[in-house]
Amino acid sequence: MKKIGVLTSGGDAPGMNAAIRAVVRKSIYHGIEIYGIKNGFQGLIDGYIEKMNTGSVGDIIQRGGTILHSARSEEFKYDEGQQKGIEQMKKHGIEGLIVIGGDGSFRGAQKLTEKGYPCIGIPGTIDNDIAGTDFTIGFDTALNTVIEAIDKIRDTASSHERTFIIEVMGRDAGDLALWAGLADGAESILIPEKKDEFEEVIDRLKRGQERGKKHSIIILAEGVGDAFDYADKIKEKADLETRVTVLGHIQRGGSPSAADRVLASRLGAQAVELLLSDEAGKMAGIQNNKLVRHNIADVLEEKHTIDFNMYQLSKELSI
Ligand code: F6P
Repeated sequence: MKKIGVLTSGGDAPGMNAAIRAVVRKSIYHGIEIYGIKNGFQGLIDGYIEKMNTGSVGDIIQRGGTILHSARSEEFKYDEGQQKGIEQMKKHGIEGLIVIGGDGSFRGAQKLTEKGYPCIGIPGTIDNDIAGTDFTIGFDTALNTVIEAIDKIRDTASSHERTFIIEVMGRDAGDLALWAGLADGAESILIPEKKDEFEEVIDRLKRGQERGKKHSIIILAEGVGDAFDYADKIKEKADLETRVTVLGHIQRGGSPSAADRVLASRLGAQAVELLLSDEAGKMAGIQNNKLVRHNIADVLEEKHTIDFNMYQLSKELSI
C-alpha cells in the first residue's frame, strides 16, 4: 500500500485529534502517503480529500473535537453512497481507509471492506460502548468532565439539602453514568441496561430520609428517559424537591485527558500497522492494557455490555 486515508465519523470525542496525529505520523514513518477526509463518510462521498503531512497534525494532540470534522451520513448507509465513496478513493489512488468513530462508523467501514475496499476501525466515542475493547477514545475525558460537574452540583445540593438528577450522555450505554456514579459516590445510578430500577431509587431515597440524609445525587443516562419526568415522580412518591441538570454536549468537548491521548496514540499507530499488514476489516482495541485486534463484523455483532459487578458495587456502596 502506498496511499491511505483517515476520517472521523459520528459523534466527536476528545482524543480523536491525537488518533489522527498518530495515524498521519505513523504512515509517514512507513513512507506511506496519507490523506485526510473531511466530514466523515459524507465528505468521502463529496470528495473532501486532502493530502496530509507531519505539519498538518502539529499542535493538535491536546485539542478536543476533530480537525477532520465529523458527520453522520444518511447517504452512506446505502449501496449507492458507498459506491460513490469508493469511486472518490479510487480517483485519489487511496488504497485503504482508517475510520475513527463508534458503531455506526464501523458499520460503514465494514460495508466498504465487504465491497473489497480495506478498512480498519479505531473506537472513538465518549459512550465506551464498543465490544472488544476495554476503553474507547474520549470516554476517560468525558468521565472527568462529568465528575467535575457533579462535584460542583454536590456543593449546592448539600447547601440547599436537595435531591439532584444529573443526566449524562448514553442513549444505549450506561458506562458513563455507571463510572461517574461510582467515582462520585452517587446515591443512585439509572442506566439503559437496567431500566426497571426506579422503585429501588425511591426506596433508597426514603431510607436516606429516615436516616436524616439531606441531599442525594442520582445519575441518569439519557437513554433511560426524561430527567424532568423522573424529578416529578420523585416529588410525587418521596416528597423530595428535586432539581435536574442535563450536562449535554459539554461532555463531548474539551482537551483530552492524558489517558485518552496515550490510548489514541497507541490505537492510531496500531491501525496503520494493521492496514499495512493486510488485516482488512479489523478494529484496533485495548484489553487488559494490551493492544488487540478483532474483526469489525464480530465487534458489531457481539455488542458491548456494562460491567454488572461494578453496577452491583455501586449499589452496595450507596446503601
Ligand atoms: O457520541 C455519542 C453520543 O454522545 C450519545 O451518547 C448521544 O446520545 C449522542 O452522541 C448525541 O449526539 P448528537 O447530538 O451529535 O446527535
